[in-house]
Amino acid sequence: MADKTVLVTGGAGYIGSQAVLSLQRRGYRVIVLDNLVYGHRDLVASVLKAELIVGDTGDRPLLDQIFTDHKIDAVMHFAAYAYVGESVTAPAKYYRNNVVGTLTLLEAMIAAGVKQFVFSSTCATYGEPSEIPIPEAHPQNPINPYGMSKLMVEKMLWDFDRAYGLRSVMFRYFNAAGADPNGHLGEDHNPETHLIPLVLFAALGQREHISIFGTDYPTPDGTCVRDYIHVSDLADAHVLGLEYLLQGGATNAFNLGNGNGFSVKEVIEAARKITAKEIKAIATDRRPGDPPSLVGSSEKARTVLGWQPQYADLETILQHAWHWHQRRHG
Ligand SMILES: NC(=O)c1ccc[n+]([C@@H]2O[C@H](COP(=O)([O-])OP(=O)(O)OC[C@H]3O[C@@H](n4cnc5c(N)ncnc54)[C@H](O)[C@@H]3O)[C@@H](O)[C@H]2O)c1
Repeated sequence: MADKTVLVTGGAGYIGSQAVLSLQRRGYRVIVLDNLVYGHRDLVASVLKAELIVGDTGDRPLLDQIFTDHKIDAVMHFAAYAYVGESVTAPAKYYRNNVVGTLTLLEAMIAAGVKQFVFSSTCATYGEPSEIPIPEAHPQNPINPYGMSKLMVEKMLWDFDRAYGLRSVMFRYFNAAGADPNGHLGEDHNPETHLIPLVLFAALGQREHISIFGTDYPTPDGTCVRDYIHVSDLADAHVLGLEYLLQGGATNAFNLGNGNGFSVKEVIEAARKITAKEIKAIATDRRPGDPPSLVGSSEKARTVLGWQPQYADLETILQHAWHWHQRRHG
């Protein structure tokens, strides 16, 4: 597979940059397309040393040029907006970028005869779970425009397979977390809304405290339980998904989670141990739309793709994230 070229949209972002690294380690040529609205040019240039095209997935002439200039074998599509709260107040922004932008990309692929697509979907497509751990066959009823925008793309992908023979692997991630074990790549969202980086900002003294939204959920310690999946494990799954498609695999959807849930209090406690910092936590009201528990079953990815997550324990995830945050923000 080493002579293949992969276009990675959103490759200057958190998960996309990690996937670029995994692809490079496996010998793939990579071209990154990112509009840098949230991405980091320095990481693509200095850490990945990959070709970066600064541009938008909604720019059809640019896409046509890329597919003409390069012999692209497959596309990995990370580019999207992913702030759930913002998607509720600004849904048009989400449908335009996540749905229309993706449609434009898919049309350009079809025109160029590129027919293999790896897509970043999300556990937010499930909505309120009726079953834990959540299997892929669970009904998909998203409760916010972000989740709906991803589900719309999933639906398009099934139709595009039937009509145009474009095959896809759709990965429904749970909570991406951690950083590359070497400390050179990691999470750097602005604004940051994810629990682990926020807890670590508190440990670095850059936040006064961490808020716990709700302590009366029907979970063992009353705080929300989430499934944290190491970003390197996520990235490796993408390479396996790509190779599944390159070997002729059919369109398919897979959960990517760790199968283990950790509560907000458990994450804070583990972070206190790893950072040896106090980390002040303040309990406050529940946030609307937060299910008590979101944990996925990733058996299908293990069985069909042979995926074996390497860093399933919370301590390792936190250690890698702490290493990264100290370097990047310390
Ligand atoms: N982080 C998570 O826990 C999580 C969970 C489930 C799904 N996802 C999905 O994974 C993907 C990557 O998430 P992330 O956390 O790395 O986010 P991120 O914001 O770090 O990365 C997204 C990248 O896409 C770029 N981008 C956005 N819109 C673009 C466009 N129209 N054209 C070109 N570039 C564009 C941004 O500049 C950014 O670099 C997203 O699709 C997200 O919805 C993330």
